[in-house]
Amino acid sequence: MRTLIRGGTVVTAGDTVQADVLVDGETVATIGRGLDVAADRVIDASDRYVMPGGIDAHTHLDMPFGGTFSADDFESGTAAAAWGGTTTIVDFAIQDFGESLQAGFERWMAKAAGKAHVDYGFHVIVREVNDQTLADMDALIGQGVTSFKLFMAYPGVFMLDDASIFRAMQRTSDNGGLIMMHAENGGAIDVLVRRYLQEGRTDPINHALTRPAAMEGEATHRAIALARLAGVAVYIVHLSSRDALSAVVEARDRGAPAFAETCPQYLFLSQEDLGRPDFEGAKYVCSPPLRPRDHQDDLWNGLVRDDLQIVSTDHCPFDYKDQKVLGRGDFSKIPNGLPGVEDRYTVLFDGGVNAGRIGLNRFVELVATAPARMFGLYPRKGTIAPGSDADLVVFDPTVERVLSASTHHMRVDYNCFEGMRVRGRPEVVMQRGEVLVEGDRFHSRPGQGRFLKRGPFPG
Ligand code: URP
Ligand code: ZN
Ligand code: ZN
Repeated sequence: MRTLIRGGTVVTAGDTVQADVLVDGETVATIGRGLDVAADRVIDASDRYVMPGGIDAHTHLDMPFGGTFSADDFESGTAAAAWGGTTTIVDFAIQDFGESLQAGFERWMAKAAGKAHVDYGFHVIVREVNDQTLADMDALIGQGVTSFKLFMAYPGVFMLDDASIFRAMQRTSDNGGLIMMHAENGGAIDVLVRRYLQEGRTDPINHALTRPAAMEGEATHRAIALARLAGVAVYIVHLSSRDALSAVVEARDRGAPAFAETCPQYLFLSQEDLGRPDFEGAKYVCSPPLRPRDHQDDLWNGLVRDDLQIVSTDHCPFDYKDQKVLGRGDFSKIPNGLPGVEDRYTVLFDGGVNAGRIGLNRFVELVATAPARMFGLYPRKGTIAPGSDADLVVFDPTVERVLSASTHHMRVDYNCFEGMRVRGRPEVVMQRGEVLVEGDRFHSRPGQGRFLKRGPFPG
């Protein structure tokens, strides 16, 4: 099957050109002006941007948390991703206590099998570091699982001590893996949480007040210091505050390989949302928490200056009505996480490009090219080039719409950007030459998405 995408403006991280794109089978065959070639199907992209399919390197589908599971599974979550212009996700498999990393990985492979609409890879969350799990890391890298998330928060659930973190980092200096860090000082936070609850401060806003930005800054600094000692790179996930960003900037200015992502919720929402009345603030509980609004400009500067390299979602949806309510009367029991996989591409386009904060090429870099490079998928994914997978978005930058739970495709009963007016829509979304979304029609089927074996960290 050959598809000609005709007359669009092709945007990659490096270039913006008027060109046609010929897709042959699963890959891009040719890019050129006025291509005079036979094709089975022609897509008119006049007045549209043709951009790489998004790569969301941080999702949690079907994830157990706080006695419940995230509301999207691999079918619904990847369908929503496709609707939103994201054609690849990298999700997190979780090691159970006493279990090998391999077993955790295989459990998540089974969750995804036959369900996914977009291509997917896995990071593995390491809960125990010992000789066996270190050996497991090496073996997983051979299977295309090349990044490992560690936690400095959630004592008793996910948190590792510094010695364990340091051991895992040392291992990645030998095996080519990348450590991803949830950087918050979990010990201090837990003390604050217990004190607040004893004092009867139980509303959702206290989630933010007990997880101060300074404790994200401290942990980020510590994570980078440990990585420097181990002589490896580190990737800070869901960076939310100027305190944490300062630690990354300081390290990068010294030439240290410190990398970080932020998420749309930290760019567009704020601590004020956690203070919404009648427990509505619970909809905005995630960790690290939303920060006071004045952190947002710092994060945008970080994106502009490449101190933050990637925008991922940390998509981890919980229904307000029957999941977030688990924490009524005790904010610490509100399942942590926000939905976003469907909206990332457009909110970053609108709030970034339309608002004049970033250019088109930087937009593509943040949502597709940089995650592909960071997580061993480039140049198969993350760009438009001959031989690359034909994961493409024909994007109409003129359509005005309002984000809402009443129209989104994520399987969750609220949208944290409810009512946000945006300009732009992924009109045609193609993965490996198959059209998944065309206007209001969804052509994909579960199982269309394939597992991606990723390469080692390029660094
Ligand atoms: O609140 C969040 N971020 N939930 C998902 C788990 C994590 O720490 O990424
Ligand atoms: Zn995390
Ligand atoms: Zn996460």
